[in-house]
Amino acid sequence: MKSCDQITSLRQRVQAFRSAGERVAFVPTMGNLHQGHLELVRQARERAERVVVSIYVNPTQFGAGEDLDAYPRTLERDRQMLEQEGADLLFIPNDSVMYGDGRRSDLTRVEVPGVSEQLCGASRPGHFIGVATVVAKLLNMVQPDLALFGEKDYQQLLVIRRMVAELNIFVEIVGIPTFREPDGLAMSSRNGYLSAEERTLAPLLNRVLQSMCRQLLGGGADFLALEEAGKEQLREAGFEPDYLSIRQQNLELPTVGGENMVILAAARLGSTRLIDNCSLFLR
Ligand code: PAF
Repeated sequence: MKSCDQITSLRQRVQAFRSAGERVAFVPTMGNLHQGHLELVRQARERAERVVVSIYVNPTQFGAGEDLDAYPRTLERDRQMLEQEGADLLFIPNDSVMYGDGRRSDLTRVEVPGVSEQLCGASRPGHFIGVATVVAKLLNMVQPDLALFGEKDYQQLLVIRRMVAELNIFVEIVGIPTFREPDGLAMSSRNGYLSAEERTLAPLLNRVLQSMCRQLLGGGADFLALEEAGKEQLREAGFEPDYLSIRQQNLELPTVGGENMVILAAARLGSTRLIDNCSLFLR
């Protein structure tokens, strides 16, 4: 696996793939890779001849007081995992390659209104502007045929799909189902922050979502009551729920008799913020 930290060398390498008639798939990450990321790489390899992965801990998507400084940087381990998984090219830009020497407040930003301000965007103001901006920049740098994202970050995926559609970026966005630990906990770089005791409690988040799904499929239609009962169950186990919300799959509020739904949750366990979601189709 080759790696590069400059945009010109990235372009030359991607151009060489294209000249050979090869399709290029792109997996953007913030590193500290786990099996969920490797699944994205595997899925990328099934869809394209070449796989480009980026590792960049993007400061603009972290709010004040969030875990930017503590975010684990494990480049050598990540590199080995990607090598084993058969990625072709690793792009590791630094802050000045990514944002130039512009002051943070002067940056050109990408804002996707409507889907961005609610749920995770409400508790992390500006987070999705940072995500949309860095993903737009990375897509312009790499110019892949397709880019893959995990469905665990459901709202992020929606923001990116809308951004790509509305800015006419010629790339196919592929969502890949959440990769889970055997006990159901969604894989996340932040799971490493959990203490041993918190780790045993953490799968409850998914169990609550699954139980709400079953109740909706069984005809439950009092959405507010279901949400409140789910939050109460989490609180009793020691979680601090941020939101637990039943929505249509485009994140609009649900209607009774609606068909494509998603239940989304974010909750703090100790100092770790966990998110998860569960999609369902009602007939
Ligand atoms: O999901 C992530 O890891 C990040 O939000 C992303 C898409 C790599 C942008 O920094």
